[in-house]
Amino acid sequence: MPELRTERLVLRDWRTSDLDPWVAMNADPVVREYFPEVLTREQSEASVSRFQADLDRRGWGWWAVEAVATGEFVGFAGLDPVEDGMAFTGVEAGWRLARPAWGHGYATEAGRAVVAHAFDCLALPEVLAVTAVGNLRSRAVMERLGMTYDPAEDFDDPEIPEGSPLRRSVVYRLRAGDHHRPSGR
Ligand SMILES: CC(C)(COP(=O)(O)OP(=O)(O)OC[C@H]1O[C@@H](n2cnc3c(N)ncnc32)[C@H](O)[C@@H]1OP(=O)(O)O)[C@@H](O)C(=O)NCCC(=O)NCCS
Repeated sequence: MPELRTERLVLRDWRTSDLDPWVAMNADPVVREYFPEVLTREQSEASVSRFQADLDRRGWGWWAVEAVATGEFVGFAGLDPVEDGMAFTGVEAGWRLARPAWGHGYATEAGRAVVAHAFDCLALPEVLAVTAVGNLRSRAVMERLGMTYDPAEDFDDPEIPEGSPLRRSVVYRLRAGDHHRPSGR
């Protein structure tokens, strides 16, 4: 089972000890600002079961992210096929961190490892990233990864109720040939 290692992080299989901090971050309304709802313990635990089953089955997916220096669980990052019912297909990269882990460059560092894995190990032709139009912190990660954005691709997420400000969403793309392009921090 591949683990992805960076200077400060390891992206790895889920452990029982990750559950409590994962439940806590999904119950934080600030972490969940651009999602329709906070998650209950049951929902968070069920998501971990799905993530680990995907990792076991295909060797990639949503990994747990640990800070090497402290051994602390700080969130998740990884790759997943775009949900059915979207106007486009492909594999998307994503990241979610507990609030104390924001502002350290961890999402970008994890994102770089994920994108490199997608191209160098999985030989994917392209990686997408999708978020609500207002999620500027996540969009900044996408931009730091050198992903490109075309406003003509903005779409209404069918999973989000009509009238919700979270429904309007953006797509960022990175093609395999472009991912070494210097993109700043
Ligand atoms: C999206 C999310 C992961 C982004 O986190 P983030 O901390 O803003 O992003 P990074 O980890 O890349 O950190 C970048 C920040 O760390 C700072 N930083 C500090 N030390 C750093 C270092 N050593 N290296 C790089 N950046 C560093 C950067 O200057 C930048 O700060 P700024 O936001 O003031 O410009 C986080 O906001 C989150 O978990 N949100 C909730 C879940 C979510 O919406 N996920 C995305 C759904 S698509």
